[in-house]
Amino acid sequence: MTSSDMDFLTIALPKGKLFSPAAEMLAEVGYTAEGLSENSRKLVIANDTLKIRFIITKTADLPTYVEYGAADIGIIGKDVLLEEDKDVFELLDLKFGLCRMVLAVPERLAGENVQDYAHMRVATKYPKIAERFFHDEGIQTEIVKLNGSIELAPIVGLAEMIVDLVETGRTLKENKLVEVARIHQATARLIANRVSFKMKFDRINKLKEDMRTLVEKRGLK
Ligand code: PRP
Repeated sequence: MTSSDMDFLTIALPKGKLFSPAAEMLAEVGYTAEGLSENSRKLVIANDTLKIRFIITKTADLPTYVEYGAADIGIIGKDVLLEEDKDVFELLDLKFGLCRMVLAVPERLAGENVQDYAHMRVATKYPKIAERFFHDEGIQTEIVKLNGSIELAPIVGLAEMIVDLVETGRTLKENKLVEVARIHQATARLIANRVSFKMKFDRINKLKEDMRTLVEKRGLK
């Protein structure tokens, strides 16, 4: 860590659905920077007065930036933490971005029993989560890793089923897919690099406590 790294707190934010609520929550506790926007071409945005630096990463890469200390802290979904399985501290459940990881199939294949789907092919952006789920269910499947638009796979015959995130349920419905099993729920989490958490304890802990107070205040409304 250089001395300038020691002065600054580097906060990683993911592109995508969590960006705006994460940036808003940080702003509410006083962490902002001019020009911080998901669509910014600039990927590092600093506030020299507050000595903070935001970096904007691809969602799946965020835990890697924090694990290696390229960012001190970050905000990311529990789904990504479970999939990426990186060595980071999970400091706080921020309680926004609630969604669920599900196994879904086309309406014509809908059944009661997960065992019915043994030996079928499953498309997912979350191969580790899918593998653990099917392993725990004691069935074998073939997992096809995709990077997005997962719901397309069963429509065009790439796979019979999908493991994916559901938020409102609209995408499943519009593609005539039905949820047959819930794997887990996920919300946004505040995470920290293990070394940064010790070296910058006062700053990170204050931010964590401010965010905890905000989460509790929001919960009471
Ligand atoms: C996520 C997820 C579903 C959709 C679910 O995709 O993979 O496709 O959102 O949301 P809903 O239940 O509210 O319809 P995302 O928009 O992140 O893009 P992707 O499919 O390219 O990963």
